[in-house]
Amino acid sequence: MAAAGSAIGLGNIWKFPYIAGENGGGAFLIVYLICVLLFGMPLIMTEFLIGKRSGRSAYGAFRELNGNNRWQWLSWLCILTSLLIMGFYFVVTGWCFNYLAEAFINVFNGLDMQALTDHFGQVTSNMPRMLLFSFIPVLLTAAVLWFDVNKGIERLSKVLMPLLLVIMFIMAGRVLTLDGSKTGLQFFFHTDFSKITPRVIIEAMGQCFFSLSIGMGTLVTYGSYMPKTQKITSSSLQIVILDTLVAILAGVIIFPAVFAFGFNPAEGPQLVFVVLPAIFEQMGWAWFFSVLFFTLLCIAALTSTISLMEMSVAFLCDATAETKHPLNRRKSVIIISAIVMVLVIFCLWSATGFTIFDKATACVMMPLGALGMSLFVGWRLTKKEPKIITEKDKGIKNWLWKVYVFLVRFIIPGAIVIIFLNSLEVL
Ligand code: TRP
Repeated sequence: MAAAGSAIGLGNIWKFPYIAGENGGGAFLIVYLICVLLFGMPLIMTEFLIGKRSGRSAYGAFRELNGNNRWQWLSWLCILTSLLIMGFYFVVTGWCFNYLAEAFINVFNGLDMQALTDHFGQVTSNMPRMLLFSFIPVLLTAAVLWFDVNKGIERLSKVLMPLLLVIMFIMAGRVLTLDGSKTGLQFFFHTDFSKITPRVIIEAMGQCFFSLSIGMGTLVTYGSYMPKTQKITSSSLQIVILDTLVAILAGVIIFPAVFAFGFNPAEGPQLVFVVLPAIFEQMGWAWFFSVLFFTLLCIAALTSTISLMEMSVAFLCDATAETKHPLNRRKSVIIISAIVMVLVIFCLWSATGFTIFDKATACVMMPLGALGMSLFVGWRLTKKEPKIITEKDKGIKNWLWKVYVFLVRFIIPGAIVIIFLNSLEVL
């Protein structure tokens, strides 16, 4: 449940529609789905496997399993990625909190598309306001880790995330009755193969890693908390299915609305923040639905930020455990929150910084991390302990395990390298 909460977040509802909109809709969707099948499921399993087998965070896992420091660069890559993601992720979470507050006092009532676009610009360039709204989720996340109420959040999201799905289905139902919504469905589901460029492919791969929380050791950390009896395969499959369902549903809501309102799908990061309020204005009970939706969106974002910060906190505890000054959880929470706040200020101050953090993590660092981890498991771990999973995890059939090993040894590293080489120009 916690890993599903980590996966489902702003990546699905904010990022997926805007990246898909910028990269040709249907052309992007098909490449994205291929990436999810090819990379998503096996890489989630890979991270869980590393974590469950080593019982350590991304800091100690590789050393524990390998007996030496040769893979330690992967750990450093992981923690760096996590910090950069938090830098911009909390900014966007701040937008969500701001929109929740505004939905509550009915600010969007009667605003048209142009007014909503201007509104987004005004809100996000208001520095004191954005500082306030981005620090609220940082502090909430830190509080959850501080008081160790992760379990409570997990139980809460077990109820709330299905509710999010229900609301999204209702919204999709309303949007599809708007005039002109067919063009949006056409845009999202019709594949124009000539639009599949190297840029589309690398963005789709990056989005897949980002949305599923893979390539930076978050799921290694969660894997290390797994009980021995937990089955890696079925957990991974559930995460992939749920996460993809939410992303597609977000597309089915946003794109028909974009076209019905005569808006541009390639509008960039502001896309959903302009289109969503406009959708609520078209629905009955606008106040009720918008408050409920933004509440759930904020909670979905929080379960993701919790996983991001948990990974860094566990990393710091683990990294300092054998030194003269070991840090306990609470001290680590303070240190990581402080670093994150600095990064958030940087992303608020520099729009270019925001974009670079976003693109560099998804399109370069996470694929590199995933490349490292699949090579590690494929060429190191499974050679050393060929029966690692069949003994420990009865959930996986023998032939499936063979397919998995083949994927992590050859196909995944090969595909990542080829996609990198192909997109050198874009990068
Ligand atoms: N997957 C989350 C989302 O879609 C974001 C996220 C949480 C994440 N933890 C992560 C991304 C770890 C990469 C790595 O919103």
